[in-house]
Amino acid sequence: MSLQIEALHKNTENMRQAEQAALSMLANMTLQDKLGQLCQQTSFSEEQFETLIEKVKKGQIGSVINEVNPDKINQLQQAAVENSPLGIPLLIGRDVIHGFKTIFPIPLGQAASWCQASVKNAARIAAMEASHVGINWTFAPMIDISRDPRWGRIAESLGEDPFLCSVLGVAMVDGFQSEDLAGPNTLAACAKHFAGYGACESGRDYSTTNIPENELRNVYLPPFKAAADAGVATFMASFSDLNGVPASGNPWLMDQVLRQEWHYSGFVVSDWESIHQLEIHGVSEDQQDSAKQAITAGIDMEMVSQTYAKHLPELLTQGKIAMSVVDASVLRILKIKFALGLFEKPYQQASPLPQTLNPGHLDAAKQLAIKSCVLLKNDQQRLPLCQSKLSQIAVIGPLADDGYEQLGTWVFDGEEQHSLTCLNSIQTYLHGSRTQLRYHRGLPTSRSHDVSALHDVIEMTAASDVALLFLGEESILSGEAHCRAEIDLPGAQHELIEAVAQTGTPIVLVIMAGRPLTLEPIIDKVDSILYAWHPGTMGGPAITDLLFGEASPSGRLPVTFPRKVGQIPLYYAQKHSGKPATAESFVHMDDIKPRAAQTSLGMAATHLDTHYSALFPFGFGLTYSSVDYKDLAVSQACYAMQEQVEVSVNVTNTGKHAVLETVQLYIRDNVASVTRPVKELKGFQQVALQAGQSKQVIFNLSSQDLAFYGRDMQLVTEPGRFQAWIGGNALSQLTTSFELTAQV
Ligand code: GLC
Repeated sequence: MSLQIEALHKNTENMRQAEQAALSMLANMTLQDKLGQLCQQTSFSEEQFETLIEKVKKGQIGSVINEVNPDKINQLQQAAVENSPLGIPLLIGRDVIHGFKTIFPIPLGQAASWCQASVKNAARIAAMEASHVGINWTFAPMIDISRDPRWGRIAESLGEDPFLCSVLGVAMVDGFQSEDLAGPNTLAACAKHFAGYGACESGRDYSTTNIPENELRNVYLPPFKAAADAGVATFMASFSDLNGVPASGNPWLMDQVLRQEWHYSGFVVSDWESIHQLEIHGVSEDQQDSAKQAITAGIDMEMVSQTYAKHLPELLTQGKIAMSVVDASVLRILKIKFALGLFEKPYQQASPLPQTLNPGHLDAAKQLAIKSCVLLKNDQQRLPLCQSKLSQIAVIGPLADDGYEQLGTWVFDGEEQHSLTCLNSIQTYLHGSRTQLRYHRGLPTSRSHDVSALHDVIEMTAASDVALLFLGEESILSGEAHCRAEIDLPGAQHELIEAVAQTGTPIVLVIMAGRPLTLEPIIDKVDSILYAWHPGTMGGPAITDLLFGEASPSGRLPVTFPRKVGQIPLYYAQKHSGKPATAESFVHMDDIKPRAAQTSLGMAATHLDTHYSALFPFGFGLTYSSVDYKDLAVSQACYAMQEQVEVSVNVTNTGKHAVLETVQLYIRDNVASVTRPVKELKGFQQVALQAGQSKQVIFNLSSQDLAFYGRDMQLVTEPGRFQAWIGGNALSQLTTSFELTAQV
């Protein structure tokens, strides 16, 4: 099944006209006019803002970043349109990553919904709110494949899998840009960070990345290709160096791949001062050299650093770069400005958003938060709670009532005052009932080691029928530059769980975090675990509805949960190796006999001190019911290359609660010219099933869906044997196979 990417053609006519308009404008531009379009600037004070206005009036700036005051945005646009030499409107850029005022779950949480429609709607709402104040460009979606939860920016990603990341990244692009980029309330989107940033060494942000071209093309580039095909208006270069060449000066990425192979026609912006950083990377002699390398590589616009403004004139006069290079960049930027309709509606009379948020937006945020939560454990069906059977509930933890922390990372414009917390929502839910609620923060913060309150917590818990623990990470512990070498629950949270477990009161653990955490040390101490990521403004009502059964959990993991940090990188689509780990071959270190012979432990790809499996696999998530998969079948045992491979299965809700089941299709290419993953997600469908209901689910795979980049770095589908699985997560065992024959 090919990605249902809505290609650019819906905007193609708009783009064609934009190209014509940009070409005729370019013909009338002076060098100064041109250089101005390549520069994005910001201001941190009133004085700097005045300087900005003056530069805009001279046509020395083409874009402004991080201005959100509608009056100031109107001033800037008026200066550009009415005072600058050619009256070219500005691009007003902002990181609108998971909401503007109404904050949705962090992108990793949104990915756990596996719901294109909800993710697209969230981006649409964000675009409506942000464009209301005059913003017309967002630096999202972030579609870096992330397989290292030590990396803080995994929070901002759509997870570890190229297929899921592509589908949801395109949904975000479509949401931000809507059907008509020139229409009202649109934002130009930005596919970032191109490319391979998520493979930063040891999960340390900005550190070097070394990705073989085959891996790059099969894993890290597909989401960017999908976004390009879907018509994303812009790309952003990553900070990192890729195989020795920083992205901000990398012609292989920015020209060979993006322009020659993909024929991408939008523009590329650097990351914040990433052109200036080429000298720090040690690949450029000085800032003139940095500017030369960046513009010739294909970085069209410079974010904040000013190497272009300062050095392009001399590079041109010294003949070190050709004017055609500058013209190409200016043309691409102007085209997006025309395509955005900025010349028709230069400043859409930006105005402040009302203080009370739109109820429809808030409900959408609640629904997406519900779909984002993943039920990881639910012993004895502890959840959903039956309020009428509970006389006292203990609500405990530093994240139970913190409207700021639940918003998560990359929230510049969301406000704590709008958040509804879990404590607040549970109190509302229990209002008027006989069930008493007792609350204790337990720890001052998620990182605190102050256990002085544990005695009170124990006393309160012992008198309760159930303890609801709200633990995890504060928002500052994930996001850009916020990486962790250990990824367990911070502070004294383990001690808190231990103390509460001593009382014997059943424990429901709700975790808010910006990454997978290593939960193995506490997993046997709690009855249920609901993983809420950072759920956003409406986290409280969403989690309350799930806890009390007003809604059913349907979230599925977009990323693997390791047992220990030492297993990282650990992801489902790993290569088989020549000596794969197996249950038979695994011997835990604690079970090794004294003086065991060197070769007595079996020889396999595993660690001695931890089981080789994930704690929770990609695609995993429990529901309040049980779902059975059977009758997996392919319509024929053998297919010709040009035929569609049809794979079907019957799915039955064998429990008592209605479910939304995410039916996942994985394949393996058993023999290929390069080693292929043990499994690859190639399709998913969300199926609503009432208790007892069955449905047949059918997937169709084309030969393109089975293609990969081979030894010669060309996309190829090779005939041979394939295995297929359909199930509720990456470990599902229901399997079949089919043969693909060469063209008949
Ligand atoms: C940051 C980030 C990038 C963001 C940009 C503008 O450093 O790397 O994702 O869009 O700067 O804030």
